[in-house]
Amino acid sequence: MFKLDGKVALISGAGRGMGWGVAQTLARQGATVIINDFYAERAEEAALSLQSEGLKAHAAVADMTDRAAIFTMVSQIISEHGAMDVFVHNAGIPAQGWGYSQFLDSPPAEWDAWLQLNLHGLMHACQAILPHMIERQWGRIVAINSDASRTATGMGLCAYGAAKAAALGFIRNLSGEVGRHGITANALSLGTMNNWEGSEQIARKTASVRRAGSPQDVGAAVAYLVSPEAEWVNGQVLPVNGGSLVC
Ligand SMILES: NC(=O)c1ccc[n+]([C@@H]2O[C@H](COP(=O)([O-])OP(=O)(O)OC[C@H]3O[C@@H](n4cnc5c(N)ncnc54)[C@H](O)[C@@H]3O)[C@@H](O)[C@H]2O)c1
Repeated sequence: MFKLDGKVALISGAGRGMGWGVAQTLARQGATVIINDFYAERAEEAALSLQSEGLKAHAAVADMTDRAAIFTMVSQIISEHGAMDVFVHNAGIPAQGWGYSQFLDSPPAEWDAWLQLNLHGLMHACQAILPHMIERQWGRIVAINSDASRTATGMGLCAYGAAKAAALGFIRNLSGEVGRHGITANALSLGTMNNWEGSEQIARKTASVRRAGSPQDVGAAVAYLVSPEAEWVNGQVLPVNGGSLVC
């Protein structure tokens, strides 16, 4: 099940963290994975690591907030690999730095940074990729989202949560336009993940599964949503959160 042989998958922000877990999983399911990152060393090291396992992986450096760079990257991938079947927009925490502030202290620049990457980056990439997917009448788009878009954390995440919620609104509406072309657009809503200090202690209190999530948990969920078997799942938000937010 969930075999991806012959598929070409672009994963943004895949040089480390959750995106790296997605890249590993999709490559092991047979896809050719294109590892995008803002930082060349991260993307190249990740691609080399998969190649050393005998898997098909390539690096693609581009800033996912830069429309022109995204269009150039997508057209290069399609001309080199002949297709772009899967796009996972995982980059969501600005590489150049970010801030979490209580709302009354949050400057407009902080809001811009979250929106540029989580909403505009997704929109630019989809406008670059969709003409190709529509021509082939097949495609899978997955946005990596957060429970911060669906609940009150009290942790200074107004700008982040609002940007993620905007991306969910986009994905839901996009699904209604592309489904008839054999293309699905879905999202994952992640809970507390295990790549930051203190996450395990928080997850033990908040997740019924009593641990923080891993890049492999994210990879497994994405592998399902991008598989041929998931063709009837469209416009949905799949919570991958250890049961911390149940609704
Ligand atoms: N870590 C968590 O607890 C958590 C919780 C909920 C949701 N998420 C979501 O999961 C996704 C991945 O988070 P993570 O914790 O793995 O992040 P991370 O910071 O560990 O890794 C993200 C990667 O994205 C790259 N990146 C950042 N900005 C970029 C840009 N403009 N262009 C290209 N690449 C860029 C970074 O260089 C980095 O390698 C994000 O969308 C995040 O919002 C994470």
